[in-house]
Amino acid sequence: MISKQTNVVILTGAGISAESGIRTFRDSNGLWENHRIEEVATPEGWQANPQLVWNFYQQRRRQLLEVKPNQGHEALVSLENHLQNFLLVTQNVDDLHERAGSKNLIHMHGELAKLRCEVCSHVEEMMEDEHLQETFLSCSKCEGRLRPHIVWFNEMPMQMPEIEKALSECDVFIAIGTSGHVYPAANFLHMARRHGAHTMGINLDPPENVYFFDEFIQGKAGEILPMLIEKWTQS
Ligand code: APR
Repeated sequence: MISKQTNVVILTGAGISAESGIRTFRDSNGLWENHRIEEVATPEGWQANPQLVWNFYQQRRRQLLEVKPNQGHEALVSLENHLQNFLLVTQNVDDLHERAGSKNLIHMHGELAKLRCEVCSHVEEMMEDEHLQETFLSCSKCEGRLRPHIVWFNEMPMQMPEIEKALSECDVFIAIGTSGHVYPAANFLHMARRHGAHTMGINLDPPENVYFFDEFIQGKAGEILPMLIEKWTQS
Protein backbone atom coordinates (compact mmCIF):
# COMPACT_ATOMS: atom_id res chain seq x y z
CA MET A 1 0.00 0.00 0.00
CA ILE A 2 2.83 2.44 0.69
CA SER A 3 5.94 3.08 -1.44
CA LYS A 4 8.62 5.78 -1.12
CA GLN A 5 6.65 8.00 -3.47
CA THR A 6 3.34 7.73 -1.58
CA ASN A 7 2.25 11.05 -0.13
CA VAL A 8 1.13 10.40 3.46
CA VAL A 9 -0.61 12.62 6.02
CA ILE A 10 -0.95 11.35 9.59
CA LEU A 11 -3.20 12.78 12.30
CA THR A 12 -2.46 11.78 15.89
CA GLY A 13 -4.41 12.33 19.10
CA ALA A 14 -4.06 11.59 22.80
CA GLY A 15 -4.04 7.81 22.19
CA ILE A 16 -0.52 7.84 20.74
CA SER A 17 0.86 9.25 23.99
CA ALA A 18 -1.23 7.00 26.26
CA GLU A 19 1.44 4.28 26.34
CA SER A 20 3.96 6.90 27.50
CA GLY A 21 1.76 7.52 30.55
CA ILE A 22 -0.14 10.67 29.53
CA ARG A 23 -3.87 10.27 30.12
CA THR A 24 -6.29 10.69 27.22
CA PHE A 25 -9.13 13.25 27.49
CA ARG A 26 -12.32 11.32 26.98
CA ASP A 27 -11.55 8.46 29.35
CA SER A 28 -11.94 10.85 32.29
CA ASN A 29 -15.64 11.88 32.27
CA GLY A 30 -15.11 15.29 30.73
CA LEU A 31 -12.46 16.10 33.31
CA TRP A 32 -8.88 16.80 32.37
CA GLU A 33 -6.64 15.70 35.26
CA ASN A 34 -9.52 16.45 37.69
CA HIS A 35 -10.44 19.85 36.21
CA ARG A 36 -13.48 20.78 34.18
CA ILE A 37 -12.47 21.52 30.56
CA GLU A 38 -14.19 24.96 30.72
CA GLU A 39 -12.07 25.87 33.73
CA VAL A 40 -8.67 25.15 32.17
CA ALA A 41 -9.13 24.99 28.39
CA THR A 42 -11.13 28.06 27.39
CA PRO A 43 -10.25 31.77 27.05
CA GLU A 44 -13.04 32.46 29.58
CA GLY A 45 -11.39 30.13 32.10
CA TRP A 46 -8.08 32.00 31.70
CA GLN A 47 -9.81 35.36 32.21
CA ALA A 48 -11.72 34.13 35.25
CA ASN A 49 -8.78 32.52 37.05
CA PRO A 50 -5.40 32.90 35.29
CA GLN A 51 -3.46 31.57 38.27
CA LEU A 52 -5.39 28.29 38.29
CA VAL A 53 -4.92 27.87 34.53
CA TRP A 54 -1.22 28.78 34.74
CA ASN A 55 -0.65 26.26 37.56
CA PHE A 56 -2.54 23.61 35.63
CA TYR A 57 -0.33 23.95 32.53
CA GLN A 58 2.82 24.14 34.66
CA GLN A 59 1.77 20.81 36.13
CA ARG A 60 1.29 19.38 32.60
CA ARG A 61 4.76 20.69 31.65
CA ARG A 62 6.38 19.09 34.69
CA GLN A 63 4.73 15.82 33.68
CA LEU A 64 6.53 16.07 30.31
CA LEU A 65 9.86 15.88 32.11
CA GLU A 66 8.85 12.45 33.43
CA VAL A 67 7.62 10.75 30.26
CA LYS A 68 9.35 9.40 27.16
CA PRO A 69 8.30 8.77 23.54
CA ASN A 70 7.01 5.22 22.96
CA GLN A 71 7.30 2.75 20.08
CA GLY A 72 4.36 4.38 18.29
CA HIS A 73 6.10 7.76 18.15
CA GLU A 74 9.31 6.05 17.07
CA ALA A 75 7.66 4.04 14.29
CA LEU A 76 6.28 7.28 12.80
CA VAL A 77 9.83 8.63 12.60
CA SER A 78 10.90 5.55 10.57
CA LEU A 79 7.98 6.13 8.24
CA GLU A 80 8.86 9.81 7.79
CA ASN A 81 12.49 8.91 7.03
CA HIS A 82 11.35 6.42 4.39
CA LEU A 83 9.00 8.74 2.49
CA GLN A 84 9.52 11.76 0.24
CA ASN A 85 6.21 13.41 1.10
CA PHE A 86 5.08 13.15 4.68
CA LEU A 87 3.25 15.41 7.12
CA LEU A 88 2.43 14.61 10.74
CA VAL A 89 -0.37 16.70 12.25
CA THR A 90 -0.90 16.23 15.96
CA GLN A 91 -3.68 17.40 18.26
CA ASN A 92 -1.36 16.71 21.20
CA VAL A 93 0.32 19.51 23.07
CA ASP A 94 3.07 17.27 24.47
CA ASP A 95 6.49 17.22 22.79
CA LEU A 96 6.86 13.45 22.40
CA HIS A 97 6.76 13.42 18.58
CA GLU A 98 9.65 15.88 18.28
CA ARG A 99 11.59 14.16 21.05
CA ALA A 100 11.25 10.90 19.11
CA GLY A 101 12.70 12.68 16.04
CA SER A 102 9.68 13.70 13.91
CA LYS A 103 10.56 16.69 11.70
CA ASN A 104 7.68 17.63 9.42
CA LEU A 105 5.23 18.18 12.26
CA ILE A 106 2.34 20.57 12.94
CA HIS A 107 0.97 21.03 16.47
CA MET A 108 -2.53 22.16 15.51
CA HIS A 109 -3.62 22.62 19.14
CA GLY A 110 -0.40 24.34 20.26
CA GLU A 111 2.52 23.25 22.43
CA LEU A 112 3.00 22.94 26.17
CA ALA A 113 6.67 23.82 25.83
CA LYS A 114 5.87 27.29 24.41
CA LEU A 115 4.30 30.48 25.73
CA ARG A 116 2.74 33.37 23.84
CA CYS A 117 2.52 37.05 24.75
CA GLU A 118 -1.05 38.23 25.35
CA VAL A 119 -0.08 41.70 24.09
CA CYS A 120 2.21 41.25 21.04
CA SER A 121 1.70 37.49 20.31
CA HIS A 122 5.45 36.82 20.40
CA VAL A 123 6.03 33.07 20.97
CA GLU A 124 8.76 31.93 23.36
CA GLU A 125 10.23 28.53 24.16
CA MET A 126 9.92 27.67 27.83
CA MET A 127 13.21 26.90 29.59
CA GLU A 128 13.44 23.76 31.68
CA ASP A 129 13.75 25.46 35.10
CA GLU A 130 10.73 27.63 34.27
CA HIS A 131 8.65 24.43 34.20
CA LEU A 132 8.61 24.62 37.97
CA GLN A 133 7.51 28.23 38.47
CA GLU A 134 4.06 29.15 39.63
CA THR A 135 4.61 32.87 39.01
CA PHE A 136 3.63 34.33 35.65
CA LEU A 137 6.38 35.03 33.13
CA SER A 138 6.62 38.13 30.94
CA CYS A 139 7.43 38.63 27.30
CA SER A 140 11.07 39.29 26.43
CA LYS A 141 9.98 41.82 23.77
CA CYS A 142 7.22 43.91 25.40
CA GLU A 143 6.94 42.74 29.04
CA GLY A 144 3.31 41.66 28.44
CA ARG A 145 2.00 38.62 30.35
CA LEU A 146 2.72 35.27 28.71
CA ARG A 147 -0.13 32.77 28.32
CA PRO A 148 0.09 29.06 27.43
CA HIS A 149 0.66 28.56 23.67
CA ILE A 150 -2.35 26.26 23.61
CA VAL A 151 -5.42 26.38 21.37
CA TRP A 152 -8.33 26.49 23.78
CA PHE A 153 -11.94 25.66 22.90
CA ASN A 154 -13.44 28.39 20.68
CA GLU A 155 -9.97 29.39 19.41
CA MET A 156 -8.68 28.78 15.89
CA PRO A 157 -6.38 25.75 15.41
CA MET A 158 -2.90 26.54 14.08
CA GLN A 159 -1.58 26.24 10.50
CA MET A 160 -4.94 25.19 9.01
CA PRO A 161 -4.12 26.38 5.43
CA GLU A 162 -0.99 24.16 5.36
CA ILE A 163 -2.93 21.21 6.76
CA GLU A 164 -5.76 21.59 4.26
CA LYS A 165 -3.28 21.81 1.37
CA ALA A 166 -1.54 18.60 2.51
CA LEU A 167 -4.89 16.81 2.86
CA SER A 168 -5.86 17.80 -0.66
CA GLU A 169 -2.62 16.33 -2.05
CA CYS A 170 -2.17 13.14 -0.01
CA ASP A 171 -2.58 9.58 -1.29
CA VAL A 172 -2.99 8.04 2.16
CA PHE A 173 -4.46 9.55 5.34
CA ILE A 174 -4.04 7.75 8.68
CA ALA A 175 -5.69 8.83 11.96
CA ILE A 176 -4.12 7.35 15.10
CA GLY A 177 -5.29 7.48 18.72
CA THR A 178 -8.04 10.06 18.30
CA SER A 179 -11.70 9.67 19.27
CA GLY A 180 -12.99 11.76 16.33
CA HIS A 181 -15.03 14.03 18.61
CA VAL A 182 -13.24 17.33 18.15
CA TYR A 183 -13.51 19.46 15.02
CA PRO A 184 -11.93 20.47 12.71
CA ALA A 185 -9.54 17.51 13.18
CA ALA A 186 -12.42 15.02 12.99
CA ASN A 187 -13.18 16.39 9.53
CA PHE A 188 -9.71 15.70 8.07
CA LEU A 189 -10.81 12.18 7.20
CA HIS A 190 -13.61 13.56 5.01
CA MET A 191 -11.36 16.17 3.41
CA ALA A 192 -8.80 13.52 2.45
CA ARG A 193 -11.53 11.18 1.15
CA ARG A 194 -13.01 13.92 -1.02
CA HIS A 195 -9.64 14.23 -2.75
CA GLY A 196 -9.44 10.50 -3.34
CA ALA A 197 -7.05 9.46 -0.55
CA HIS A 198 -7.09 5.97 0.94
CA THR A 199 -8.01 6.35 4.63
CA MET A 200 -7.00 4.27 7.61
CA GLY A 201 -7.83 4.49 11.32
CA ILE A 202 -5.82 2.95 14.17
CA ASN A 203 -7.39 3.25 17.62
CA LEU A 204 -7.92 1.36 20.84
CA ASP A 205 -11.72 1.87 20.70
CA PRO A 206 -13.74 2.49 17.53
CA PRO A 207 -13.76 6.29 17.08
CA GLU A 208 -16.89 8.37 16.43
CA ASN A 209 -16.18 8.44 12.65
CA VAL A 210 -15.09 4.78 12.33
CA TYR A 211 -17.51 3.91 9.49
CA PHE A 212 -15.94 6.41 7.11
CA PHE A 213 -12.45 4.87 7.10
CA ASP A 214 -11.52 2.54 4.24
CA GLU A 215 -9.66 0.43 6.83
CA PHE A 216 -9.78 0.38 10.61
CA ILE A 217 -7.37 -1.49 12.89
CA GLN A 218 -8.35 -1.77 16.53
CA GLY A 219 -5.55 -1.92 19.10
CA LYS A 220 -2.71 -0.04 20.72
CA ALA A 221 -0.69 2.34 18.55
CA GLY A 222 2.56 1.28 20.24
CA GLU A 223 1.97 -2.32 19.17
CA ILE A 224 0.36 -1.89 15.74
CA LEU A 225 2.49 0.91 14.28
CA PRO A 226 5.92 -0.78 14.60
CA MET A 227 4.60 -3.92 12.83
CA LEU A 228 2.79 -2.08 10.05
CA ILE A 229 5.55 0.42 9.38
CA GLU A 230 8.27 -2.21 9.36
CA LYS A 231 6.29 -4.04 6.68
CA TRP A 232 5.79 -0.88 4.60
CA THR A 233 9.37 0.33 4.83
CA GLN A 234 10.85 -3.05 3.88
CA SER A 235 8.75 -3.58 0.77
N1 APR B 1 -3.38 3.35 21.07
C1 APR B 1 -4.32 3.83 20.24
N2 APR B 1 -5.42 4.49 20.64
C2 APR B 1 -5.57 4.68 21.96
C3 APR B 1 -4.65 4.18 22.92
C4 APR B 1 -3.51 3.48 22.43
N3 APR B 1 -2.57 2.97 23.25
N4 APR B 1 -5.09 4.52 24.15
C5 APR B 1 -6.23 5.20 23.98
N5 APR B 1 -6.53 5.29 22.66
C6 APR B 1 -7.67 5.95 22.02
C7 APR B 1 -8.94 5.95 22.82
O1 APR B 1 -9.69 4.77 22.51
C8 APR B 1 -9.64 7.21 22.33
O2 APR B 1 -10.54 6.96 21.27
O3 APR B 1 -7.31 7.31 21.86
C9 APR B 1 -8.50 8.08 21.79
C10 APR B 1 -8.25 9.36 22.56
O4 APR B 1 -9.36 10.16 22.41
P1 APR B 1 -9.49 11.56 23.16
O5 APR B 1 -9.17 11.38 24.60
O6 APR B 1 -10.81 12.13 22.81
O7 APR B 1 -8.31 12.45 22.55
P2 APR B 1 -8.25 13.26 21.18
O8 APR B 1 -9.09 12.64 20.12
O9 APR B 1 -6.81 13.50 20.90
O10 APR B 1 -8.92 14.64 21.62
C11 APR B 1 -8.94 15.70 20.72
O11 APR B 1 -9.86 17.19 22.35
O12 APR B 1 -9.89 17.96 24.55
C12 APR B 1 -9.47 18.21 23.25
O13 APR B 1 -7.74 19.61 22.55
C13 APR B 1 -7.98 18.35 23.14
O14 APR B 1 -6.49 17.65 21.38
C14 APR B 1 -7.58 17.25 22.20
C15 APR B 1 -8.84 17.03 21.40
